[in-house]
Amino acid sequence: MLTHSQVIVHQNAKLCVLEGALLPFEVRRVYCICGVAVGATRGFHAHKTLEQLLTAPAGRIDVETDDGRGNKELYVLDSPEKVLYVGPSSWHTMTWRSEAVLMVMASQEYDPGDYIRGYEEFLAFAAKERSV
Ligand code: TYD
Repeated sequence: MLTHSQVIVHQNAKLCVLEGALLPFEVRRVYCICGVAVGATRGFHAHKTLEQLLTAPAGRIDVETDDGRGNKELYVLDSPEKVLYVGPSSWHTMTWRSEAVLMVMASQEYDPGDYIRGYEEFLAFAAKERSV
């Protein structure tokens, strides 16, 4: 789901703010990915429980999400105003369309055990989630 930050225009500058209800979970970790070659795609995983907000403070990154039920969405992150919520059980890839920085706010500290890195495993996980 694509949301927007609060935008404050101040002295010809734009301040993009996320606070209060614009943060749908308690942020426990923030990281940036930079130095990625234009055209390269990262991600190719889903999380079991992690919630994330993705934004591109600089440049353009296209994010594709897949819920494992045939619903794929493409989001263009090309402004710090745009913020994408990626919840658990969402297979996602991020493609650098320009020199860009990806900033991720996450609901939990890094836990390799929360990753699902195989697509078949993800489909099985998503199907199991549906049946609960
Ligand atoms: P990874 O999550 O696979 O990157 P991407 O989201 O682009 O697919 O992480 C790449 C490497 O960085 C991996 O070895 C794990 C490490 N890492 C941490 O140690 N802490 C973190 O918070 C993150 C996101 C990654």
